[in-house]
Amino acid sequence: VLSPPLLALRAGAADLGARRTGAASTGPFQVRMPVPQTLRPVRSSAAGDAYQIDIRPADVEILPGVTTPALTYNGSFVGPTIRAKTGRPVTVTFRNWLDMPANVHLHGGHTPASSDGHPMDVIEPGQSRVYEYPNAQRGATLWYHDHSHHMEAEHVYRGLHGFYLIDDDAEKGLRLPSGAFDVPILIRNAQIDETGALVFGNPVERTVLTANGKAQPYFPVFARKYRLRLLNGSTEGSFTLGLDGVQFTQISSDGGLLPEPVPRTQLTLSAGERTDVVVDFSRHPVGTRLVLSDATAGPIVRFDVVGQATDLSRLPDELRPLPALGTATVEREVTLSFDMSGSMPVGLVNGQPYDPNRNDFQIKRGSTEIWRVVNGDTAWGFPHNFHLHQTSFRVLERDGGAPTLDDAGLKDTLPLAAGSVVRLQATFNDYVGRYVYHCHFLEHSSLGMMGQMEIVP
Ligand code: C2O
Ligand code: CU
Ligand code: CU
Repeated sequence: VLSPPLLALRAGAADLGARRTGAASTGPFQVRMPVPQTLRPVRSSAAGDAYQIDIRPADVEILPGVTTPALTYNGSFVGPTIRAKTGRPVTVTFRNWLDMPANVHLHGGHTPASSDGHPMDVIEPGQSRVYEYPNAQRGATLWYHDHSHHMEAEHVYRGLHGFYLIDDDAEKGLRLPSGAFDVPILIRNAQIDETGALVFGNPVERTVLTANGKAQPYFPVFARKYRLRLLNGSTEGSFTLGLDGVQFTQISSDGGLLPEPVPRTQLTLSAGERTDVVVDFSRHPVGTRLVLSDATAGPIVRFDVVGQATDLSRLPDELRPLPALGTATVEREVTLSFDMSGSMPVGLVNGQPYDPNRNDFQIKRGSTEIWRVVNGDTAWGFPHNFHLHQTSFRVLERDGGAPTLDDAGLKDTLPLAAGSVVRLQATFNDYVGRYVYHCHFLEHSSLGMMGQMEIVP
């Protein structure tokens, strides 16, 4: 008999097809997809913007008419969006109203170690804490989420996730779709039981696919270009996304713009990854409905073309060159796997479970390294993915060949099928201190599949 965590691992090993979409009582496309509110600063000055967010329980409505208790940022299942600007610092005061420790990590952020949300660096119940984000990085789609030791999977699963978008002037000059036509969409699965409760770690029937916290919503659009910022905010698994076979254009990956737009009809997004795409709805007559779906699990959100609109935005042939790759001086090996010999699986990186008191790698600040990342779980067939804090990386090679389209650009998270090997290159330019890297199937990192590096002067 498999214990619930083992069952969860099994389900993670299968694709999302095993988790049929639910909402059976109502059918899909009943409610409109909300766009998470952009948070207003409580203070702005020449020195930057200050924000405040409460971490607190709240009742939300994921399935139409069903109340679901969740853990939230400011009361919404997808937290408020923070809009930052390259070079302009942001501070966020998070107050923890939960009855257990919590913390916050800015995923994709080049963040000083003291504000990175290290697993042991938590906000105790009733306390608050100021996180500092310098935003000394390119424009990109980031997100913030819980990262507290052993609890990150459950906390994120129950709703502690939100967008953090960095705009930069270089990007603004391109005149990509903006304002109401720049729409972040957090896609994730959720299991909701008969009482409306979120079921964690136990893949059962009634799994639903959600977009911005609603089960299979619709979203009215005008016949013009939109920038959709897609985030897989699930705690594990990958989506293979398509838009009824229609072509869309990928413009960015985790760390910001690609050098040039790439036409796609399908893309893969594992838990934690982001991709911005431009969809030109003017190619479709008013009245057209296009469904963004996962190849196996089904519909996620339907776009309804409801009217004409003028469109002054552009999709240029060239976006922005990537930074120079640099010369690597150090090579390392990182193998992700499970120890399945006990009653509970233990997540391992290079054969050891995470120990916050152990530094696995010491890295010289300013150095460029090549990491060979291996999914070592061939016997069990578990998929994993890999996420590196503090910096982004470039994929040099996948399984002995060229990187895939999904590996393009500046990355901080990427999927690895069982047995897969990826070579990536990263430069550790920003800050010294203690940071983690881990499998971003958070059920796995919560079970120990995480390592720690110390970046030294
Ligand atoms: Cu998105 Cu270490 O996390
Ligand atoms: Cu991260
Ligand atoms: Cu994993």
